[in-house]
Amino acid sequence: MSDPDSPFDLGAGMAGLSTEVIDGTEAETSALNARPAPQNAPLKLVKGGASQPLRHESGVLHVSGTAAYIDDLPEPKGLLHLAPGLSTKASARILSMDLEAVRAAPGIVLVLTADDIPGHNDVSPVGKHDEPLLATDTVSYYGQMIFAVVAETRAQARAAVRLAKIIYEDLPAVLDVAQARAAGGELVWRSLTLSRGDAPAALPKAPRRVSGSLSVGGQEHFYLEGQAAMAMPGEDGEMRVWSSTQHPTETQLMVTHVLDCPGALVTVEVRRMGGGFGGKETQANGPACLTALAASITGRAAKLRLDRDDDMTITGKRHDFVIDYDVGFDDEGRIHAVDMVLAARCGWSADLSGPVTDRALFHADNAYYYPDVRLRSEPLKTNTQSNTAYRGFGGPQGIVGAERLIEEIAYATGLDPLDVRLRNAYESGTTRDLTPYHMNVEDSIAADLMKTLAEDCDYRKRREDIRAFNAKSRFIRRGIALTPVKFGIAFTATHYNQAGALVHIYTDGSVQVNHGGCEMGQGLHTKMVQIVMREFALEADRVRITATNTGKVPNTSATAASSGADLNGMAVLDAVTKIKDRLIMFAAEHWSVTEKEIAFTPDGVKAGDTLIPFPDLIKAAYFARISLSSNGFYKTPKIHWNPDTGRGRPFLYFAYGAACSEVAVDTLTGEMQIERVDILHDAGQSLNPAIDIGQVEGAFVQGAGWLTTEELVWDAAGRLRTHAPSTYKIPGCSDRPRIFNVRLLENAPNREDSIFRSKAVGEPPFVHGLSVLHAISDALASLNHYRTCPRLDAPATPETILRCADRLRKTAEAHAAPGTA
Ligand code: MTE
Ligand code: MOS
Repeated sequence: MSDPDSPFDLGAGMAGLSTEVIDGTEAETSALNARPAPQNAPLKLVKGGASQPLRHESGVLHVSGTAAYIDDLPEPKGLLHLAPGLSTKASARILSMDLEAVRAAPGIVLVLTADDIPGHNDVSPVGKHDEPLLATDTVSYYGQMIFAVVAETRAQARAAVRLAKIIYEDLPAVLDVAQARAAGGELVWRSLTLSRGDAPAALPKAPRRVSGSLSVGGQEHFYLEGQAAMAMPGEDGEMRVWSSTQHPTETQLMVTHVLDCPGALVTVEVRRMGGGFGGKETQANGPACLTALAASITGRAAKLRLDRDDDMTITGKRHDFVIDYDVGFDDEGRIHAVDMVLAARCGWSADLSGPVTDRALFHADNAYYYPDVRLRSEPLKTNTQSNTAYRGFGGPQGIVGAERLIEEIAYATGLDPLDVRLRNAYESGTTRDLTPYHMNVEDSIAADLMKTLAEDCDYRKRREDIRAFNAKSRFIRRGIALTPVKFGIAFTATHYNQAGALVHIYTDGSVQVNHGGCEMGQGLHTKMVQIVMREFALEADRVRITATNTGKVPNTSATAASSGADLNGMAVLDAVTKIKDRLIMFAAEHWSVTEKEIAFTPDGVKAGDTLIPFPDLIKAAYFARISLSSNGFYKTPKIHWNPDTGRGRPFLYFAYGAACSEVAVDTLTGEMQIERVDILHDAGQSLNPAIDIGQVEGAFVQGAGWLTTEELVWDAAGRLRTHAPSTYKIPGCSDRPRIFNVRLLENAPNREDSIFRSKAVGEPPFVHGLSVLHAISDALASLNHYRTCPRLDAPATPETILRCADRLRKTAEAHAAPGTA
């Protein structure tokens, strides 16, 4: 029996990984390590250290409701509360703004407008200066912040907002991709083209050719903790900001823009977010800046926690895309040429739409080799929320395009889609390993993963059974699909691929670790603690992680692109190694042994035959005046990328996986149930198999929600109608697959020099949700005897499923009617 209080007993069995504490075999593991281990002595790994399961550092706090989020922090004396006043027009000129009644309302201390901003009225994260914090002459979407009320209580602030009288003059508005194109197609960012060979010339020469268009919907982040910030003024212009942000450094920078003060005066701190999912990479800046502005003007602390409806109305979401495709192939299902245009609804400002649409192109091949290819992006400006990062950062949308091609080819040739996938998979070391951005895929394991998973979950046999079932079942139809993922790891903005850390050992031998990454539930902090545990052979309770703070580690990158552990892990290891090297040197001298005879073990530090408790070593080192603190730094090697030529190596490596989903669809009601899901995922030599399994499970469910139940609806006036859980359906417990088998690939160390040979895990498994869309499509295809590609768009809500079913039934009837086929 495992000890219920032990932090080490999570998910180990599920991961199928050996979690035993290894004795004497550390040499093997550390051979994978970036740096040569400074000692040769056989080592015992500490239980729960890096590469082993360890429960989330805040797990107990999460489930007992004692983890502190911004709104849970003790409130400073005299705290003020903010509420934003929002535009009720999608596109309009502000003719007049009467805020007298707002100012006169009870409890109101201040009403902030753009005129109150001492610095720049701009929170554009990409330097395009197209995103005012508060609107001035015009509004560009329904929900844009125009003013903010500062009151003694939150209720007073929210009530007063409604008393504003704003008179608008309507301007033309474009709300979606079609309207934006019709109005001339204004872009928020340059269009990117990736090309290799000559797709327009190769397409007509291919034996077969299919073209079409698909649409894939957006997605609300639905982090459980909404956007929130609190600011506290200090002496002489200092400002401390607590923000639920994935990017404290950028939040700090935006506050300095708005307040017009040096960065050295502003400190931003993040202990944890109640989920970010990309929605707090840039969009936490607005609330943070507003609270800092209020605090700066009033000299009092100020807090803003957006109401859920406001949050959904104000903030950007995953980009919805319209993808036009043209694919040439042969009777064996081999792709010859691909031409695709990926158009995205970006919203009113650039935000991260440039890099997001770029990443969509980088993933529009998914795991497949396209001999001749041209991919173009169209980041369209619209009068809607400014769409932003969301788990996968455009990658999943590109992959939806790739998988549609596969489906088209499968139905055109009559082949099993899995065979089409296998025939087109990248083949490393051959001429078929080159991506549309001219990076070689050096380690393609997508085909192997698909084959292994197909065997493991009995895909072929179940597919036959399902077809037999469907032949006899009139209304309930079942479907199955197995899809791969290949996901590029690194920020495409090369300079973002750096990280810092700060590690202190106190004289009692306890360790405090800080780094540039933020915790949003993904377990990053746990993994960072595990690195320290492993290197010093310390138990979890001796290592404390602190809140992310711009005053401790400066100039950090956003915790995003799944690279939090890759980047910060290496920086933490660097800091730890510097201290460790000093300790080894000191101990060798102090105990008169060679440096090779020093070893950090769970029992204590060995100096030859002497065993020294870790705290004793630290105390001795302190008295010998050895520095027990160090920073650390890391930058990702090898990567480069030139958007002008469309060539480079934007990624250090790829993470892979495969998923197989089986669904049952009621073709009379459009209802859908996920019956069974099997996932095989590549996390390299996982830093924490328990946490990584959780990431894969959560990502799959979030991906499946995106493609099935989650639907954003705007009305003709550009008002988002789905701005609460009552109208926006995220997956609930009862939507989970009836059978859910998740396994990490074993013995699969990263071939690149990553932290302990792990692979990033945050975003790639989101793509596994695609297997559900294709399983639904497979079920619906049965209605027309698998003769035509259902062309099922996402989200496949019950309505969409019904419409598709009707279409397929009608086609089947037309086919059956004599003389009409
Ligand atoms: N997991 C949880 N529980 N909550 C989150 O907000 N964000 C995802 C992913 N997993 C997220 C999550 C996104 S969008 C990214 S980019 C990564 O975590 C970021 O963290 P990492 O780089 O440390 O993996
Ligand atoms: Mo994740 S979308 O890169 O924050």
